[in-house]
Amino acid sequence: MCGIVGYIGNSQCFPVLIKGLHRLEYRGYDSAGVAILNQNNELNLYKTRGKVADLENFCQSKEIAGSIGIAHTRWATHGEPNDINAHPHMSADGNIAIVHNGTIENYNVLKQALTKHGCEFKSETDTEVLVQLIQYVKETNNCTLIEAVTEALSQVVGAYAIAVVDRDTPDTIIAARKSSPLVIGIGEDATYLASDATPIIDYTDKVVYLNDDEIAIIKKNEPLRVITSDNEPSNIDIKTLKLSVSQLEKGGYPHFMLKEIFEQTSTIEDSIRGRVVNNHIQLSGVNENSEKFASADRIIIVACGTSWHAGLIGKRLLQDIARVPVEVEYASEFRYSNPVITSRDIVIAISQSGETADTLAAISLAKEKGAFVYGICNVVGSSIARATDSGTYIHVGPEIGVASTKAFTGQVTVLTMLALAIGQLRKTVTPDTLVRVTSAIEMLPALIKETLGLNKAIEKLSNTYTYVHNFLYLGRGYNYPSALEGALKLKEISYIHAEGYPAAEMKHGPIALIDHELPTVVIAPMDELHDKIISNIQQVKARGGSVIAIVTKGDKAIKEIADHVLEIPKIPECLSPIIVSIPLQLLAYHIAVKKGCNVDMPRNLAKSVTVE
Ligand code: AGP
Ligand code: GLU
Repeated sequence: MCGIVGYIGNSQCFPVLIKGLHRLEYRGYDSAGVAILNQNNELNLYKTRGKVADLENFCQSKEIAGSIGIAHTRWATHGEPNDINAHPHMSADGNIAIVHNGTIENYNVLKQALTKHGCEFKSETDTEVLVQLIQYVKETNNCTLIEAVTEALSQVVGAYAIAVVDRDTPDTIIAARKSSPLVIGIGEDATYLASDATPIIDYTDKVVYLNDDEIAIIKKNEPLRVITSDNEPSNIDIKTLKLSVSQLEKGGYPHFMLKEIFEQTSTIEDSIRGRVVNNHIQLSGVNENSEKFASADRIIIVACGTSWHAGLIGKRLLQDIARVPVEVEYASEFRYSNPVITSRDIVIAISQSGETADTLAAISLAKEKGAFVYGICNVVGSSIARATDSGTYIHVGPEIGVASTKAFTGQVTVLTMLALAIGQLRKTVTPDTLVRVTSAIEMLPALIKETLGLNKAIEKLSNTYTYVHNFLYLGRGYNYPSALEGALKLKEISYIHAEGYPAAEMKHGPIALIDHELPTVVIAPMDELHDKIISNIQQVKARGGSVIAIVTKGDKAIKEIADHVLEIPKIPECLSPIIVSIPLQLLAYHIAVKKGCNVDMPRNLAKSVTVE
């Protein structure tokens, strides 16, 4: 993970770097640092453990003038989060500074070789090895910085996005990427670089997404140059950003997470815009590849975390509506499972960030084996969006809270539309179902708005459960993945242990956990399995457990037996996970806030997991 920012231009770089780091803090917040080259050709380095705000305090009385700088917010992979392991890292001669996002897998071999040549290391990081290697190559080959970076990267195995400054070439930043993202912003009198476009949007909407194995030579007041690792000039494709600054601010909410939960009325509207037309689904990615979707033998969904939960719901949708066999795999397991894939398979990769390393690796494997790969991403222009053959964006806007909320509902909405679109092609969906489900999709924004009305009641309810140590989440059918997702939300932001289970599986083990100290959230909207889930609630109650039930408005039967009920509007079963997720998100949010947790930046986590 980690976030990188760089600036080279005619203004002071420090404010741009700090503001950019704040925007990227969702990617990691173990430590932060800056390296600034000033007009006396001094390279000032400041770094500290903790958040970007700690770095700002630390720099208060420091010499921060300069118009060329690189900065970093870290999510540690090699070496504990402390001041020394914080980036930027310097070459031993103090001339070269680097920031790095990714992991250098062969860092130990390189470190041993460099140690033999007399290099001494200050930190435990893999990144310091790279900067020492660059200095070593530069000295031994007596070459330029760009040549040294190119050569050093050819010796590296792993993933990286880097930015490098050197006192010997004080008007230049060298940036390069392989498997970690890097965006370059082209301003009027400055060039910016960052891990995503959010630090850039305040200054310019013209950006270049660096590709794998490309190296950018960014010089003050000169046009950008990009070369490949073989020293061939690369084509520079300038894109225009469609992002607004207001999307990156809290807009009056205490946390991004709450803002993003409440935004779901409009984000779902953005997900469906132009895609439901006269009770038909129009997805250009499906239309353009209709042959493939019509004839595929099987669909394999790969994803991680919340996106994997969306994938589990996608499986049911695709099976029920499009009648295609579907498998859902954790990308991290799939990539090492020697999977049987043929060119008649379609692999669907789901990712909010579009940068998850395991999902990217699963995509390359699927492509190698000849499958057609379809992406469901949020971040436009992200690595996964570009690595897939085709796809559908969920269009929910930037998600900044580390706990995924609006991206999940966007993913499930897109998966529903995808299932219907494939069902149209394969003629497996009846006209009645098409009308019923598409009409309900169009109702989603209003139904979400109504469900958000539960906020106050859930806030009150959270008082009862703030100091509980364990939670059980149960659901069946379409809402078994909702139970997994509800439990994940609670775990990641409140640090309360929670397990999600298919309700009927409870009696095969977890029922032993139930006592008066273990609350159970039961997801029980009115559906085919409603009577069965009532029995599951009875089983919990009979053992002294308390039950919070999410039910369809007017459900008297469950009201009589549950301790608390949260009523949601009536909705077709296949869309219920979208509505159900609103009270689950709010419950996790309010419990975490009451516990005093940092919900937007939970401990040990980062938003995009760009390492294995
Ligand atoms: C969600 O709340 C998590 N923070 C996490 O599980 C996330 O969904 C996972 O890392 C996948 O990310 P992606 O969707 O960006 O690929
Ligand atoms: N491997 C580097 C470190 O631990 C960068 C980490 C990352 O990008 O996740 O400092």
